[in-house]
Amino acid sequence: MKYTSVRGMDDILPQHSSTWQEIESKAREIFSSYGYNEIRTPILEKTEVFSRGIGEGTDIVSKEMYTFQDRKGRSLTLRPEGTAPIVRSYIQNSLSQISLDMRLFYIGPMFRSERPQKGRSRQFHQIGSELIGPDSPYADAEIIIQMNKLLKEVGIQDFDMQINSLGCKKDKEMFSQKLKSYLKGKENGLCEDCSRRIDKNVLRVLDCKNDKCKEIVENAPDVSSCYCQECVSHFETMQKLLNKMEVKFRINKKLVRGLDYYTKTVFEVSHKGLGSQDAIGAGGRYNNLVKDLGGPDVGAVGYAIGMERMLLAVVKDMHKKNKKKISLISLGDKAKAQAFQLAEDIRDAFNIPVLCDLRDGSLKTQLRNADKQNVDLVLIIGENEIEKGIILVRDMNSKQQIEVPVDIILDDIKQRITEF
Ligand code: HAM
Repeated sequence: MKYTSVRGMDDILPQHSSTWQEIESKAREIFSSYGYNEIRTPILEKTEVFSRGIGEGTDIVSKEMYTFQDRKGRSLTLRPEGTAPIVRSYIQNSLSQISLDMRLFYIGPMFRSERPQKGRSRQFHQIGSELIGPDSPYADAEIIIQMNKLLKEVGIQDFDMQINSLGCKKDKEMFSQKLKSYLKGKENGLCEDCSRRIDKNVLRVLDCKNDKCKEIVENAPDVSSCYCQECVSHFETMQKLLNKMEVKFRINKKLVRGLDYYTKTVFEVSHKGLGSQDAIGAGGRYNNLVKDLGGPDVGAVGYAIGMERMLLAVVKDMHKKNKKKISLISLGDKAKAQAFQLAEDIRDAFNIPVLCDLRDGSLKTQLRNADKQNVDLVLIIGENEIEKGIILVRDMNSKQQIEVPVDIILDDIKQRITEF
């Protein structure tokens, strides 16, 4: 094959796009019920938005970004995530003046140059939500409850929600120092990445998957030992709210996340069925990001779900809930004209997908085409049917076929689509 897509960047094919759309529309419904409005930021940003926002020492910034210089020598980056660009836009467009609490959601492609494998690609899509303004534990709870609802409503059942608190900026710094001191002298036992992380991104050592690193951090100091009183009460209130709303979660004191901007609450949702790339979505509070990028001193919390991983985890057959599809088959010019008109009438009457076979194929070929398109009902019109004033209606699931008079065909279809 001469031309193929870039490695790790896949097409979303027509046979899958309806599932994508269903998930997106379910998500949009949920966002709207919480009063979140969509924000669409450009796919390209100035590189500093990410290097400052996500942190120089993170894997994303240090080795996964698609960064290049434009014709004028400016450094630009394909967005690896949505939060930093949204904060950039929030500041640039003075969104805090529109509302003190800005509730935003986004859906779109992200780019990370990681080694592609199942559930991990170089272009992937995120659905995410950000609540910028409040520093209240109620905001954390709103975001986590919303994410929990979204996952459930698209049909994901057995997911595992882990939460932790990293403490505020001061607590987090104190804990990083404590962890560094603990790891001093143990560098040789750590994997290559972690021995580098001690200086640049020490918290990441805590959630390294390497067995040797896991053993070493087993007895590492506990992050909760560094919480100030306010962080203790923030974390407790949020847990109470989640319990009250029956959100299932467990606390993982070693959960730290791979982006530097988090303080206080962090959370991650995984699904056993996904293999090694089992994180469906994640998020947390990032109170200092707005200020660090030059904006007001406000709180913020949010999450992002990986669309491709969410699709892999959807166990319920969403197609069952799909609108029923009808195909019209005709034989001869007169029948084709009648079928073409009837297709339009059915669309207008019921707002369901109707396909009209426009090729002059044999009955067998047209039926085979309809079958390939997974239609539920086929309406067949030939010269014979025109003469008799009927239409042949074939139920593609039961394979039963009956003659229906033309003048009651819309009533017949109505009954069938409500019965399905
Ligand atoms: P993240 O954990 O880097 O967080 O990504 C969120 C989700 O995006 C992951 O849980 C995963 O499902 C998906 N994802 C990440 N990388 C890939 C990849 N290479 N291929 C496929 N899916 C991937 C963030 O991006 C934060 N901005 C989340 C957030 C929003 N925090 C606060 N607000």
